[in-house]
Amino acid sequence: MQNRIQEIKEKAMALIDQAQSPEKIQEARVRFLGKKGELTALLKGMKDVDPEMRPKVGAWVNEARAEIEKRMEQAGEQMKAELLKKRLEAEKIDVTLPAKRPEHGHLHPNEIALREVERIFTGLGYEVVSGPEVEYDEYNFEKLNIPKGHPARDEQDTFYINSNIVLRTQTSSVQARIMEQGKLPIRIISPGRVFRSDAVDATHSPSFHQIEGLLIDKKSSFADLKGTLEIFAKELFGEDTKTKFRPHHFPFTEPSAEMDVSCFKCGGKGCRFCKGEGWIEILGCGMVHPHVLEMCGLDPKQYTGFAFGVGLERIALLKYEIDDMRLLYENDLRFLEQF
Ligand code: DAH
Repeated sequence: MQNRIQEIKEKAMALIDQAQSPEKIQEARVRFLGKKGELTALLKGMKDVDPEMRPKVGAWVNEARAEIEKRMEQAGEQMKAELLKKRLEAEKIDVTLPAKRPEHGHLHPNEIALREVERIFTGLGYEVVSGPEVEYDEYNFEKLNIPKGHPARDEQDTFYINSNIVLRTQTSSVQARIMEQGKLPIRIISPGRVFRSDAVDATHSPSFHQIEGLLIDKKSSFADLKGTLEIFAKELFGEDTKTKFRPHHFPFTEPSAEMDVSCFKCGGKGCRFCKGEGWIEILGCGMVHPHVLEMCGLDPKQYTGFAFGVGLERIALLKYEIDDMRLLYENDLRFLEQF
């Protein structure tokens, strides 16, 4: 009997030692120690054993069982430890490796141009303010000397929310709002989105951006306007830039002008870029119309001022020599990554 037990035990031990996985150990457990296991079968056959021998046989079987269980436990522990070791190896992190940097985006050409303009004017003591894109007809047109039926409304056809409210066609609307507040003197620029009922092509979009400028003080003159815009042009396009003011008409300024800058590509000789002109039109400007001052609650005998309006896209297109405005809005990375 003792031999038989020893035999079973050795078989079991050998199997456990060979086992490569917890499943194999479990198999061995069922085979030897389970309800129908080989060792259990010996206990069941106890009735055939000589009664005197029974306690001894019982003790041998239990001993063998305990030994097998212990070996199984050890093997299990060892397997777990090896598994953990393997996992730690596999998941090892080298903290000295340089980190993966998230890809940095960069500013849109419009935004770069805007910041440049803001830098120049804040440097001259101007404040940057904003106004609503959905605007009353009153601020977008009426108070800027563009009453109902005025031909200038045709040039700035827009999207009407109702008969009183429009998507603003120009940032000039902010002028009226700021003057109305009556905090003087005024020195502001106001960048923002404007809308017009225009079809999309290389130079038009139903939505684009302008930057408005307004200065109101007791003794401001056209000379101040020219000086300010000349500094602006030189800062933006280079120290050698010359400016030229051509008479023009805007309903809300008198006199009005358009400012050209000498072509920064050819220096004014005339090239493909300036279409042979030597000059590039850059903005509209003028002295704020006395009637506009009045409508906005200021006394034109005490106060005068000048205003100007620049197209932001126009500056971005010029500065970066982009020939199609649509590129600015299409979000094509092959284009945007060039800046
Ligand atoms: N708002 C004008 C436009 O959209 C641009 C402009 C011209 C603004 C003259 C001004 C100005 O403030 O004085 O065409």
